[in-house]
Amino acid sequence: MELAPENLLQNLNTRFVGRNIIYYHSLPSTMEIARGAGWRGAAEGTVVITEEQTAGRGRRQRSWLSPPGGIALSLILRPTIQHLPQMIMLASLAVTYAIEAATSLKAGIKWPNDVLIRGKKVCGILIENQLRGGVLEFTIVGIGINVNMDPSVYLEIADIATSLSAELGHPVSCIELVQKLMVEVEQLYLDIRAGQSLHQRWRERMVILGREVQVIEDGKVEQGVAEDVDGDGSLLLRRSDGSLLRIVAGDVTLRPLP
Ligand code: BTN
Repeated sequence: MELAPENLLQNLNTRFVGRNIIYYHSLPSTMEIARGAGWRGAAEGTVVITEEQTAGRGRRQRSWLSPPGGIALSLILRPTIQHLPQMIMLASLAVTYAIEAATSLKAGIKWPNDVLIRGKKVCGILIENQLRGGVLEFTIVGIGINVNMDPSVYLEIADIATSLSAELGHPVSCIELVQKLMVEVEQLYLDIRAGQSLHQRWRERMVILGREVQVIEDGKVEQGVAEDVDGDGSLLLRRSDGSLLRIVAGDVTLRPLP
């Protein structure tokens, strides 16, 4: 019951993010519960949180491991359609800042929104927009953070994932981390609403810029140097023939440094 609302609400320093909490000890995926709550009119900032997911979902139809000891949550936000490109920036930046506020670790972002520590993935983000008749009703920001787990026991992620406890050598308080995450999300969201762009902050955290990468976009493999990320959230890839390719959605793999 670590993540129960009474624990999370104690000394939570936000106005609306995380003030309404839907808590489950275990569930298939927080995304579905958040979707239902959003359509029923749940307040902006509502968070669906659980100790364990039994069918956690990742990007591109992948699954997401969510054993107890980690953070799995979905946030309901109601941004305008113009602010949508900033939502991926908001989510990855908020996680990065929260990890750094709660621990001594330094975190970076791998486009579009994986959070890495020392080159390994510590957090995945899944954003789903809910539309009716072409109108954006709300956005669900799903965040999974490997906090207290040993990634080496899960063969499928052992080589590519890490956790906060694995990096630090001691457990981390999930309550403190979620509270810090809520604070960072709220601040960044208010910045967006006040007309600020998160682009520069997101770009500064991007660990792939200037590196040789492989990008899979719609099943097509592209290779080149990750030259920049644009204000609309896309990746600019410089291919070996000199051409510049704009990639709106895809998966990046860093190629080993020579
Ligand atoms: C990815 O890296 O592929 C995204 C992973 C997103 C995982 C989170 S955990 C909370 C929320 N519920 C889910 O089923 N998925 C997201």
